[in-house]
Amino acid sequence: MFRIIYASQPSRGFGSLEMSELVASWRDNNSKLGVTSFLLRLDAHFLLLIEGPPRTVSALMDRIWDDARHGDVQILLTGHDSNHHSEGHALSYADLVNGHGDGAALGEITGVCEGLCSASPLLHDWLSAHANGHPALQPRA
Ligand SMILES: Cc1cc2nc3c(=O)[nH]c(=O)nc-3n(C[C@H](O)[C@H](O)[C@H](O)COP(=O)(O)O)c2cc1C
Repeated sequence: MFRIIYASQPSRGFGSLEMSELVASWRDNNSKLGVTSFLLRLDAHFLLLIEGPPRTVSALMDRIWDDARHGDVQILLTGHDSNHHSEGHALSYADLVNGHGDGAALGEITGVCEGLCSASPLLHDWLSAHANGHPALQPRA
């Protein structure tokens, strides 16, 4: 199983309804492709984790990279792992805009990111820098 985590900046504002529609279609797509993922939306960022077969994940990542709905894509972690953290989640989504978040998905996503911080100083630093106002994102020391 191959994993990639990246952060990006939305190129415009997305309403909650628009986001849920987009997420629903991306989730369908992920199910068809056989990849699983977590997506977190903060006020000024997206944080996405995708896991699955290496070629499928890379091909999807290429498409996402070119998506005009966001920019400044920063890869925070890539690697192979036998632990499949997002298993069973075609796309688990948490929206932290205005400090609100869906508890279950948020707990899963932040738990996984915290656990992976030791494998990626970049991820650790990104979470530290952007956890402001989102205590759930504060990485463990
Ligand atoms: C932040 C962000 C996350 C995305 N996550 C996914 C995803 O998990 N799965 C997916 O199929 N598309 C995702 N997309 C959309 C893809 O960029 C792309 O529009 C979609 O896969 C359809 O590709 P196509 O237009 O080439 O058919 C995401 C886009 C953005 C901006």
